[in-house]
Amino acid sequence: MAITRVVALCLVSFAFLVSVMEGVQVTITNNCDYTVWPGSQANQGSPQLSKTGFELASKKTESVDVPAAWSGKFWARTGCSNNNGVFSCATADCGNHVECGGAGEATPASLMEFTVDTNGDHDTYDVSNVDGFNIPSSITPQGGTGTCKIASCPANINAACPSDLQFKGSDGSVVGCKSACVQYGKPEYCCAAPDHNTPATCPPSNYSQFFSKQCPNAYSYAYDDNKGTFTCSKPTSYAIKLCP
Ligand SMILES: *[C@@H]1O[C@H](CO)[C@@H](O)[C@H](O)[C@H]1NC(C)=O
Repeated sequence: MAITRVVALCLVSFAFLVSVMEGVQVTITNNCDYTVWPGSQANQGSPQLSKTGFELASKKTESVDVPAAWSGKFWARTGCSNNNGVFSCATADCGNHVECGGAGEATPASLMEFTVDTNGDHDTYDVSNVDGFNIPSSITPQGGTGTCKIASCPANINAACPSDLQFKGSDGSVVGCKSACVQYGKPEYCCAAPDHNTPATCPPSNYSQFFSKQCPNAYSYAYDDNKGTFTCSKPTSYAIKLCP
């Protein structure tokens, strides 16, 4: 009797674990009128995804499976080309390869960040301009419960970027907008230790306020947590739209 109960309990727990640890699908749609090259990088302690970088033509969608208990980020490279066998991108390059293979992105880059299934009952996700901006984006969770709002930065911040933050391509056009932290590296902009690593000692700057005004539903600097972070319980997928 006791043993059957233990076995039954084990089966129930196993079924529960399997249902909890399903992971989630991320679909990336390129609504821009130009080709982009999405990339991803897992945070320390999470495995790299099966696809860490690929080309995505205008109006195309591609899906990536994200395992349970994963945290990491996506971004999109722009202006990539192959010159004499060397692949490189105008923005958000991850080191001369289409597949980023665990490498991170060059700044400035808009980030789409996820923590999936590691908080117990909910995921968190956000669009971040903390390392600057290079492309408009949004994240829409699908099939989950809870708040599950759209995280987004739909504005083209490149067009409004203050002159001292502009990041230009080889033809002189503004292809990215650096954050004040990226441009100036000052502890008060980067919320760095020892004097500025708390929300109270790292208030918004006039630069972060510029980003916040352009995109109120995205992180404008490191301690923008109240506005920037979104939560959702057990969505089946996340739709990332570039140029939403
Ligand atoms: C922020 O303030 C500094 C000086 O305090 C000024 O030089 C800079 O232009 C301002 N930037 C923005 C985006 O308002």
